[in-house]
Amino acid sequence: MNVDKILSEMTLEEKAAICSGKNFWQTKGFERPGIPMINLCDGPHGLRKQVGEADHLGLNESIKAICFPAGSAIASSFDEAVAWKVGETLGAECQAENVAVSLGPAVNIKRSPLCGRNFEYLSEDPYLAGKIGVAMVKGLQSQDVLPCVKHYAANNQETLRMTGDSVVDERTLHELYLSVFETIVKEAKPRSIMTAYNRINGSSCSENKELLTDILRDKWGFDGATVTDWGAVKDPVEGVRAGLDLVMPGGNDSYAKKIIAAVKDGTLPETDLDKSVRNVLNLIAYAVSHKKENAVFDRDADYRIAAELAKECAVLLKNDGGLLPLKKDAKAAFIGEFAEAPRYQGSGSSHVNSAKVVAAKDAAAGLSVTYARGYRSETDKTDDALLKEAVEAAKNADIAVLFVGLPDEFETEGADRETMDMPNKQNELIAAVAAVQQNTVVVLHNGSPVAMPWIDKVPAVLEMYLAGDGCGEATVALLYGDANPSGKLAETFPVRLADTPAYLNFPGERGIVEYREGVFVGYRYYDKKEIDVLFPFGHGLSYTAFTYSDIRLDKNEMDDTDTLTVTATVKNTGNRYGKEVVQLYVRDVESTPNRPIRELKAFAKVALDAGESKDVEFKLGKRAFAYYETRIHDFAVETGEFIIEVGASSRDIRLRAPVTVRSTTVIPVIFTRHSTVGDIAAHPKGQAFMASMQGQMKTPPSQGEENVMGSGTSKMIEKMRTEMPLSGLASFMGLTDEQLDGMVAMLNTEI
Ligand code: BGC
Repeated sequence: MNVDKILSEMTLEEKAAICSGKNFWQTKGFERPGIPMINLCDGPHGLRKQVGEADHLGLNESIKAICFPAGSAIASSFDEAVAWKVGETLGAECQAENVAVSLGPAVNIKRSPLCGRNFEYLSEDPYLAGKIGVAMVKGLQSQDVLPCVKHYAANNQETLRMTGDSVVDERTLHELYLSVFETIVKEAKPRSIMTAYNRINGSSCSENKELLTDILRDKWGFDGATVTDWGAVKDPVEGVRAGLDLVMPGGNDSYAKKIIAAVKDGTLPETDLDKSVRNVLNLIAYAVSHKKENAVFDRDADYRIAAELAKECAVLLKNDGGLLPLKKDAKAAFIGEFAEAPRYQGSGSSHVNSAKVVAAKDAAAGLSVTYARGYRSETDKTDDALLKEAVEAAKNADIAVLFVGLPDEFETEGADRETMDMPNKQNELIAAVAAVQQNTVVVLHNGSPVAMPWIDKVPAVLEMYLAGDGCGEATVALLYGDANPSGKLAETFPVRLADTPAYLNFPGERGIVEYREGVFVGYRYYDKKEIDVLFPFGHGLSYTAFTYSDIRLDKNEMDDTDTLTVTATVKNTGNRYGKEVVQLYVRDVESTPNRPIRELKAFAKVALDAGESKDVEFKLGKRAFAYYETRIHDFAVETGEFIIEVGASSRDIRLRAPVTVRSTTVIPVIFTRHSTVGDIAAHPKGQAFMASMQGQMKTPPSQGEENVMGSGTSKMIEKMRTEMPLSGLASFMGLTDEQLDGMVAMLNTEI
């Protein structure tokens, strides 16, 4: 396809038309200028290709496909190779099914554990979400399938999801919510981005020039197509002006009509429309020229991949006394409906019509396992007969394994949760079983953190998340030690909902949600507030043990333009093979902006045989030390000491080493009437000015002197002196307004 030629031959009507879809899942095709149509499908952890009736909520059936672990599980692998493999396999399926654009990954930050779509999202941490997102995108792209990274941006709840306004300050937006997209755009260069339903600070994400052009294209260098979430656009003309390219779903010619009218009446320059058309044509041209003709979708092979990947994602939360792994000949009672019918995926647009799901009960065939249903998912009432049967089964076994978690209606796209609680009947079942069987293991099937009122009563908890079609097989392999757990939490498990950062401001009021916790989301919040958590970010156990030693920095001082190399040694001190996720956090010892105690800036998953040790090397550049500085609308480092922390979780730091980083960024300062003596004195040129003013100024008296402000402690007087604004000084000096303005002008000229 020759995009330039086609564009030059298109009529205004054709151009306007191609900026919205043909129907639910296709772009428009035109025979005359030679534009084929392409297919777009969900994503993000399995193929949802609808051939019959279409919808964006996963209601109607799609073709049989493979459900891979959901985003929450993929991120818990802390393994870019796992994320890449999901992308690669899904990409190959898309090629076989003639799907050009895969709607994912979904990378929104988990601001509150209540967000109904957290199961699809990756993490509370932007670094981790960014890196896992990059790997998923690259995996899809390895098959020449186009990812559509979603939902851009600040789309962190489902309440009023199509109209809500996320009110976020600039620093928080860039440090947390945009930086995930920034990393993916810069490192993986995806060819499309999906704009979110919500507004940010009053402006709809699909019609927001700052978001779609100034930041995405001009700042980050994105050169692909922006696609609306399904039904997100309010005003397509405003969208095109802002940098929106494709409105989905289509089938409605009112968008095109509005665009044509706006071009004709001169309110929309045709050159703006051409930009959008070019981006859509480029997307189509890429897809068409990279279509693999002989691709096959091997469902059995992909199921195997899904089951293997699920083993890498599970997190062993607790394992007192080494209860796990179970001996193969142990008499185990599998209890709970999820052992028979696992909850392995969430509801909504990501819902896959699974070709094959293996339940734990079936995967355990051949082992010494009995089964009791324990509860009925469809009701929240305790079924006494089932409870009794479960307690008997637990008593008669060596070990009870409870398969519990959240049923579909507890977490789903389209609705937020109201509590972190599991169904009462399940909590009651756990308590009843644990009361008669001290060897009780809880296996969780959920997409986001749950409260665990029974945690002290059970020795072992295995978090499977929503592990995809291979959920049961992976669970059994992990329980019996054929696989060794190696996942770590990509989000904090709080003790209770009231402890969470957005507790007072989620989901907002009257459609407006204020992100008042600022950058303090997830562990950034719990660490700063010194709040105890159930399980911290980065936590996860193994059947073996690891020690950390010998942290080395290649320099102790550096400019922020340099790269720091950090090396540490990790040893497997147990007696079996295992993988450890080594995490590197950076801590700014002292800073003017209010910063988190520590922030994740690197990680590596290391495979070690029993007794083996390996050096792990990390490279840290400027961004590892930077915060977002609103005065320059960019990231900056504040000169000073930082501590490099290396550990097994955000609350299990094993090694520390200091480094001094010098900033190379000059932050321009503009003085005003409100600038204080302290501000001025802190600036080199301001100091010269202060010196030149000495004598002329009757500054507030220094220590011990009596004056208009009365006497005070030296600390108080010093504070009053440094916080005195220029306007205050002027009044002490008896200056007029004009003279004050002259002083401000002089100060700024000095600079
Ligand atoms: C969801 C998107 C999805 C789209 C198409 C929307 O409701 O928010 O994530 O890709 O539907 O199904």
